[in-house]
Amino acid sequence: MKKMVKIGNIELPDFPLLLAPMEDVSDPPFRRLCKQHGADLMYSEFISSEGLIRDAMKSRMKLDIFDYERPVGIQIFGGDEEAMELSAKIVDTVQPDLVDINFGCPVKKVVCKGAGAGVLKDVDLMVRLTKAVIKGTSLPVTVKTRLGWDENSINIDEVAERLQDIGVQALTIHARTRAQMYKGHSDWSHIQRVKENPRITMPIFGNGDIDSPQKALEYKNKYGLDGMMIGRAAIGYPWIFDEIKHYFKTGELLPPPDMEARIQAAQNHLTWSMEWKGERVGIVEMRRHYTNYFKGIHNFKEYRQKLVTNDSAEELMKIFDEIRDAYSDYQIV
Ligand SMILES: Cc1cc2nc3c(=O)[nH]c(=O)nc-3n(C[C@H](O)[C@H](O)[C@H](O)COP(=O)(O)O)c2cc1C
Repeated sequence: MKKMVKIGNIELPDFPLLLAPMEDVSDPPFRRLCKQHGADLMYSEFISSEGLIRDAMKSRMKLDIFDYERPVGIQIFGGDEEAMELSAKIVDTVQPDLVDINFGCPVKKVVCKGAGAGVLKDVDLMVRLTKAVIKGTSLPVTVKTRLGWDENSINIDEVAERLQDIGVQALTIHARTRAQMYKGHSDWSHIQRVKENPRITMPIFGNGDIDSPQKALEYKNKYGLDGMMIGRAAIGYPWIFDEIKHYFKTGELLPPPDMEARIQAAQNHLTWSMEWKGERVGIVEMRRHYTNYFKGIHNFKEYRQKLVTNDSAEELMKIFDEIRDAYSDYQIV
């Protein structure tokens, strides 16, 4: 029988690769690229429960999901039970495949409101907030969190049991504490311990610092988890999902995407951003992505400069053609 991972009724392939929720990154245009390149489950960037309730335009836009990207989860955060329940109800109306709760964001403005990683200091509150979300939605509820507040208070073992007991259907663990922010070593041995707890039956996904097929395979074999989530390595490099899957299957590395693939990806990302955000905002917000698509390309500075200063969709498409001509013989090694 074919092995698979289940979250509620959602069936994922054996050892799924998840695209991480990332603020200002994991929007529909970017998710579309990651889907094309093999992401098995994707999440929206986090959405403030209070923003959703206030009907903040920006928060509502983040609820946009499209059938071709399923299965897709909407991630919410907040520190108030009522607001979390109500926002789960709002999320329910757009029918993503699941609702994910962020209990991992280390940023001060989130933590101060008792949300994100702030609740790692108060597991009772975390449980109440989660119950409120489960009450507000008929969809499967999953959680993404960190190991604990700091190295002296790693409580992920208790957190996992208590969340599973109230009905959480999968847990993604970023193998850092809140105090580490994004620095230092991510220690996946803590995630392994959670997975090996005989009481834990929900899928456990690992997250933190996966940036190559080799590392992905090493961690898959070493920690025995149900799947892994990838964030930063996918920014400007959606090919990471295909590359990892190919390596798992064959033990061989795919050649890196050539110049035409990179141009096409950046161009699609721009086009879809303009379609979704409107032309002006789409052009401006795409500017921070070009460096990532063309990382390591020789003498690219001049073209990057043109891409990040031009305001016209038509001109930008001409610049992409110029890049195509200039790099038609370019070999990426
Ligand atoms: C730009 C950026 C935005 C992020 N926004 C979110 C978010 O909205 N929700 C969330 O749960 N985590 C967020 N994260 C954390 C990532 O989901 C992930 O846990 C972290 O980057 C570690 O994984 P990685 O090493 O594969 O990047 C963000 C990370 C980055 C770099």
